[in-house]
Amino acid sequence: MTGYPADPTPRPGRVEGGAVRPPLPLDTVGDIRSDHARETVAVCIYRGILAATRNTEVHAFARDHLVTEQRHLQLMEELLPRLQRSRLLPIR
Ligand SMILES: [Fe+2]
Repeated sequence: MTGYPADPTPRPGRVEGGAVRPPLPLDTVGDIRSDHARETVAVCIYRGILAATRNTEVHAFARDHLVTEQRHLQLMEELLPRLQRSRLLPIR
């Protein structure tokens, strides 16, 4: 199934960063929540590597990948309203 559910009950649009966005199709919220959690973990992994390594090559690798994963996380956060994110992610 794609698109919005058959339920005709109007749902409010999301307000994120000053922009009103249409609500996400309900059948995609779980997938995007999972993607958001994975990107959050990826950012944490690269931050951990940066905190733990003294190897300059590993440090450069982790720094580059951290930037990429932060960009991915930002995209997920733009898609997924805060109340629809995993409740298991109070850590950041
Ligand atoms: Fe990613």
